[in-house]
Amino acid sequence: MKILVVNGPNLNMLGIREPGIYGKATYEDLLKLIKEYADGKGVEVSFFQSNHEGALVDAIQQAYFDKVDGIVINPGAYTHTSVAILDALKAVAIPTIEVHISDVTTREDFRQISYIRPVCKASVIGEGFNGYLHAIDILLGD
Ligand code: DQA
Repeated sequence: MKILVVNGPNLNMLGIREPGIYGKATYEDLLKLIKEYADGKGVEVSFFQSNHEGALVDAIQQAYFDKVDGIVINPGAYTHTSVAILDALKAVAIPTIEVHISDVTTREDFRQISYIRPVCKASVIGEGFNGYLHAIDILLGD
């Protein structure tokens, strides 16, 4: 089982950005947490982060050619704006779980829209970093 974890804009700033919302742990801490969990489950995990919409589209397309079995994606602010990321996920048709660290359902109106949600198997919202682990479990059927 090969899983690609994709993070969008400003998620590289975890630990620095709005710690009251996203916590004090860093992006590196997040990768370590996911890697250890995936190793324990015998899952091959790879990571991609970018602040650029097109680079995220490229990474999703590449997942098809790399025969990735599942995608865990937190598109950050592009969640609420990006038809291009939606179309990329539709194009590759790889089972995908949407993750948000914060509880977007209780935040601003503009965060209530997710362009990718209709093509995702599930959305894990407001579970902090553990949400990524929950997403892996869903992909594994656990
Ligand atoms: C986020 C929520 C988005 O609204 C925001 O733009 C982010 C992070 C989350 O993980 O809670 O960058 O996706």
